[in-house]
This record gives sequence, structure tokens and C-alpha cells, in this order.
Amino acid sequence: MTDLWWKSAVVYQIYPRSFADADGDGMGDLRGIIEHLDHLAGLGVDVLWLSPIYPSPQDDNGYDISDYQNIEPIFGTLEIFDELLAGVHARGMKLIMDLVVNHSSDEHPWFADSRSSLSSDKRDWYWWRSAREGMEPGTPGAEPTNWGSAFGGSAWEYDEKTGEYYLHLFSKKQPDLNWENDEVRSAVYDMMNWWLDRGVDGFRMDVINMISKDVSLPDGRLTAGSSYGDGSPAYINGPRIHEFLQEMHAKVFAGRDAMLTVGEMPGVTVDEAKLFTDPARGEVDMVFQFDHVWADRGDDPWQLVPLQLTKLKAIFNRWQAGLAEVGWNSLYWNNHDQPRAVSRYGDDSPQFRVASAKMIGTVLHLHRGTPYVYQGEELGMTNYPFRTIADFRDIEALGHYAQAVDREGRTPEEVLTVLRARGRDNARTPMQWNSSANAGFTTGTPWLAANPNYPEINAAAQHDDPDSVYHYYRRLIELRHNEPAVVDGDFTMLLPNDERLYAFTRRLGSTELLVIGNFSGDSVTADIDGWSDAELVLTNLPAPSGLTLAPWQSVIYRRTV
Ligand code: GLC
Repeated sequence: MTDLWWKSAVVYQIYPRSFADADGDGMGDLRGIIEHLDHLAGLGVDVLWLSPIYPSPQDDNGYDISDYQNIEPIFGTLEIFDELLAGVHARGMKLIMDLVVNHSSDEHPWFADSRSSLSSDKRDWYWWRSAREGMEPGTPGAEPTNWGSAFGGSAWEYDEKTGEYYLHLFSKKQPDLNWENDEVRSAVYDMMNWWLDRGVDGFRMDVINMISKDVSLPDGRLTAGSSYGDGSPAYINGPRIHEFLQEMHAKVFAGRDAMLTVGEMPGVTVDEAKLFTDPARGEVDMVFQFDHVWADRGDDPWQLVPLQLTKLKAIFNRWQAGLAEVGWNSLYWNNHDQPRAVSRYGDDSPQFRVASAKMIGTVLHLHRGTPYVYQGEELGMTNYPFRTIADFRDIEALGHYAQAVDREGRTPEEVLTVLRARGRDNARTPMQWNSSANAGFTTGTPWLAANPNYPEINAAAQHDDPDSVYHYYRRLIELRHNEPAVVDGDFTMLLPNDERLYAFTRRLGSTELLVIGNFSGDSVTADIDGWSDAELVLTNLPAPSGLTLAPWQSVIYRRTV
């Protein structure tokens, strides 16, 4: 039964700085989004998620917020925001905001106050600690714990003014908020209510499973080759995480209709996700888990290991089975932190790009859960041909390069190989609207160069082409809206040991769907019986004969059982 509206919805993520620039300053803006709403309504998506648009020093492209209740001037004003929201609602879509409250910017007035003196009213709003016992404050190794930060270097920054250190799990311009403090939590809930009262329809919650920390802040295990300890056991799904999310739900979402909440949760397990997404517990509607996007990395997150289809299938199967009875999955290949899906899971060569982009879309969208489309994915946009480190802008890429090359002595080429495959800037190049200069993204100089393939890969060309990736995604979304088995059907994985075919069925009552994706450049026959009379619902290439799929082909069959 479809009791919760977001079960049949598809969400589209906009990364505003790279979406569309209406005023020619090289940076996307809200007016640019307004001008392109018909592209999104035409695709048929139900919800737009905006990456952060709040005032920010932009150290981490807006994931460092200095005022939670306003709009970054580069992007627009609150008035333009209201106009955007009205335009979204007028087209029957909803809009959710990014909620970044594990940390604020160091330029937020809360932090400025907190760092001003040991006796500040807001001192306890952040994590301040003195130097390690017996060590001289500010000297190497004197940090309160051995934790490394996500963007390289220590997770602690020494602040001379008061002689203490503050915690930052991300950059030193992103100090962690102390959720143990009741006033912090109330301030966050008030802010969330303010946005919901303004008309927004929910939140995507940034690294929300890191807000509760083990207050003893224990040292982390040292991993081979790294100078820092892994502090994550102390802050991933910390002791009070469920309590905090239940409190947030009660203070913010209870009594409001048709909201959507999705928690970004690196390191979350299926068992924990069941708790987070059980509607009876009142926490969040769904979570973003990371297992499938971490399937091609080794113990060291920056190590590349070849992607094995059997491993990927086992991961999805575990999540599908784990949340079959209680809870709900989110489904994504792409977002602003991941390389382009077609380059990673498909084949972005001219010969197979279109087919493989459609095939991976088919496989994802036919799972049980709420699919997320990241801007440009619906065009089959690809990774960028980065040459040197000078081509990157992302703080994560620059931080990793500095640590690996300058401090750990790895060769630039070795590190660049990984960044080309994994770097977040792959996803952040300008949206490719048309074949005019800079992909039609800006009339100025784009903050990050457009992918040189924009003359071939762009929205204008695809709107006019019924065989485009755009129109194929539109059909996938339409299928979810019209075929209840896509939303609610049981999921059964087939051929788990096959390294080329991804196959599964979805069944609801007497309707059964068979989905097969060929993740290879070979023609492959699926050894599955009983489908010879079935109706072909959708394929990305000319209809196959039987179950012999051409390279990168996908099929969806339907039968009555
Ligand atoms: C999340 C965001 C990422 C950001 C980080 C710190 O993972 O998606 O872009 O860098 O949190 O806010």
C-alpha cells in the first residue's frame, strides 16, 4: 500500500552554484533555477533538493553556513527564493533544503561569540578542549585527540585567543556544533520551523549521523600509512543520535503534512537504518547510505579497487532485503560528492555512453525506494578530463593532494589518477544546457570549467530527441508514477554470481516485472525462464530477441502471474 507520498516520488538534486547563472558572474543562482524549472517539470520529478544556498564564506561550497536564515547574495535574496518556491509549487513539485547542522561556518556569529572568551555564553555551543595532558598547547601532537579531519590534517584547530582547540570533522572553517547543549538544539529546531513556515517541504540532512559524539572523545585506531587516528567510532551513530532525531521530529515535523526528510549517513548499517527509518519511531523518512558508492575503494578510502558487479549487487540486495518490512531506501548513483555515474558504473565512450547511462538509470529506478537524480545525470553527463591539480577547486581534492603528495610523499600522478576517478569536482562542472559558450551555463567566466563535451551532450539537443537520455529518464519516472509494482512490489535478486548481468524481479499481487541490465560491452544471454510471452515495457536499445541483451542493454518486462 502506498501510504506515504514519497514512496512514489523522484527527487532531483540541484547544486545551485553549477546549475544556471542568470546574472553572468560565473556562479549559478536562484534566478537561473527559476528560468529552468520547465526542464525539471518536463522530466516529471516530484521534489527538488537544493544544496546549500545560505550565506557562506564558501570554504566547502556552502556546506559552511554563516547565517541559517538568509540567502547567500551570490545566489539571490529571500524574495527571489520565495519566487522560486512559488514557481516550484505552481508546477506541482515540492522543494527541500539542505540542513547543515553538524557544523556551522567559523564565521557564523555563534562561533565568533564562542571563540571570543572562555566565559562566552556560547562557549559550550562548540567542542572546545585543552591540549593533551603534559603537552605544550599548539605544538605538534598536542591536539586533544589523534583524529584526522575529512579534508586532511588534524580534526582540531588551536585557537590562540583562549589557548584551547576546537573540533572540526571537516575543514577548520567548519567547527562542529555541540548537540549536547540544549540551546544549540533549540536554535536549530527554531530555524527549521522558520523555513517550513515559509513553505519549504522538508530537509536533506547533511552528515546527520555525526551530530552525537561520545563525549569522552577517545583516540582513534591508527590506520596503516596515515598520520591520524580514525575517530569515527566516537561520532558515527553516537550514543544520543536516535534521541536527537526523535526530539527534532517531535519539535519540527510532527503535525506537518507531506514533508520529506532524508538523512545523509556515512557508515550507516542496514540495522541502524531500520531504526532511523521506521515510521513508528519518528526519526527520518529515509537515509543516504554509502555502501554502494564505497564498493570501489579499499581500506584506505583513497585507494581505487576495481568495481565488481557481484559485490554491488550483494550490497543492494542486502539493503533491499533489510528494509523490506520496516523502513525505506533512498536510491542514488550520483550527487555532488560522487563522480559521474555513467563514467563510474557505465561506459562513457562515445559508442556506449547513451546506452549505458540509460541502463544504469533503469537498474536504479526499478529498485524499491525513492530515486534521486543529480543534475546532469538525466543528460548522461560524464567525468571531466582533469589534467593537473590546478584544474580542481574542491577543498577535499586539494586537501587530499596536499596530504598525500606534500606530507606522505606519494607521486602526483598516482594521486591524480585517484582524483580523476573519484574527485567531487567531476559532479560540479557546469550543467550543460546548450552548445553555446560555456554550455549555456553563464555568459561570464564559469567558476569551474564546463566539460569540453558540451557541444554533444546538452539539454537543448536532448529535449528535441525522443531517444535521448533525458526522455528515457522521463519515461522511467513516469513508470514509477504509473506502475504500482515499481513502488511497492517485492524485490527478488536473480543471478547473484553473474559479473555482467544485473537482474531482479518486482512483484505486487499478480503483476511481476523482470529487470535486466547488461553491465558489459558483450552481448549476453540471461538464463531466466518463463518470460517468453511477457510484455516488453521499456528498453534502451532495439528490442532484443529473447533474453539476449546487446552491450549495455537494459530491459523491463511485465507479466501477469
Ligand atoms: C556532506 C556533504 C559534503 C560536505 C560535507 C561536510 O558529506 O554532502 O559536500 O563536504 O558533508 O558538510
